[in-house]
Amino acid sequence: MSILLTGGAGFIGSHTCLELLQEGYDIVVADNLSNSKPEALKRVQELSGKSLRFYQADLLDREAMDRIFTAHKIEAVIHFAGLKSVEQSVKHPLEYYRTNITGTLILCELMQKHNVKNMVFSSSATIYGNAKRVPIRENEPLQATNPYGRTKLIVEEILRDLSAADPEWSISLLRYFNPTGAHPSGRIGEDPTGLRTNIMPYLTQVAAGHIDILNVFGDDYPTADGTGVRDYIHVVDLARGHVKALQKVIRTTGADAYNLGTGRGYSVLELIDTFERMSGRSVPYQVVNRRPGDVAVSYADPQKASAELDWRAEKTLEDMCADAWRWQSGNPQGYSD
Ligand code: NAD
Ligand code: WQD
Repeated sequence: MSILLTGGAGFIGSHTCLELLQEGYDIVVADNLSNSKPEALKRVQELSGKSLRFYQADLLDREAMDRIFTAHKIEAVIHFAGLKSVEQSVKHPLEYYRTNITGTLILCELMQKHNVKNMVFSSSATIYGNAKRVPIRENEPLQATNPYGRTKLIVEEILRDLSAADPEWSISLLRYFNPTGAHPSGRIGEDPTGLRTNIMPYLTQVAAGHIDILNVFGDDYPTADGTGVRDYIHVVDLARGHVKALQKVIRTTGADAYNLGTGRGYSVLELIDTFERMSGRSVPYQVVNRRPGDVAVSYADPQKASAELDWRAEKTLEDMCADAWRWQSGNPQGYSD
């Protein structure tokens, strides 16, 4: 039996492939490589000393995806594939709805056809919108504030409906907070092909001297130093969360949502300071206006994942910064080096 990872060549997917191979799982990856490179999977196989099956396939290509389900006995699917830029989703909502929603519908229909009913889904803390209470628990009201967030919210609802209609389905909705860092080997990491908008890839580029200055989006938020606070989570911790969620969906049924975060928030200035200490580089920054749509504070209550998945984040902000820097400095052009 194999585990199918859609989008498994991407940032979080590649780290999850590595953890799964190290745990002895047999894995199959389907990815259209629209935001990733095959080199990531080559390195995953080098690091683990094990091999995986890769298909360059688009989620929207029903026939290609069907052939994968026919060729392999799939026990569960970890569904990462999708588009993830908030900014781009505002400009190209139809593209986002088509990939993230239609793509998931096609996947679920094929899973049903092939009697595969275990799924781990990449959701996002973005669906809490401007949460009234922190730390954020899974039962807080959900509210999407942009098309990307709406796709995650709609897919969560579709998956819950599916589970309600057929109790054989077993689904984990993993709500990631702010994934960052890289594998400590420095061999795999985040290599976005398009624009960088998340803070860590931007920070590493400034530290490397490829970008002159980091814009800090606002210092007048109601936080200790006025800058935005987020729950940064190391991508290796996140990847391990998927292994735990996978084990749970295989042994139970029903649909459940879990926050994957550390439970601690750090401000932008704390992040910059930690990054400077860990990299030994200075990061010039300037405070600019708030970025529209940003919330002041977001961090998880991760207790449900701890109690029900037996998972908790172990790595620190120092680890995230040191590993992100090791990846950036060892691979200045990402996987193109
Ligand atoms: P990523 O872009 O690195 O990985 C997504 C992968 O999906 C890429 O390899 C891409 O080539 C592939 N893909 C995109 N469209 C596809 C399609 N139509 N068919 C097949 N493959 C396709 O992103 P990531 O950071 O690894 O995110 C993985 C998932 O987690 C996404 O669903 C994302 O929305 C979600 N998520 C990410 C974050 C984050 O900050 N990175 C936070 C919360 C949730
Ligand atoms: C973090 C903090 C910014 C860039 C986004 C998505 C969310 C999820 C994770 C997918 C904020 C500040 C940022 C910069 C800055 N992705 N910042 N200068 O916005 O919390 O979440 O990624 O699901 O959906 O919205 O992450 O890394 O963009 O920002 O000052 O150049 O850094 O204001 O306080 P965010 P981020």
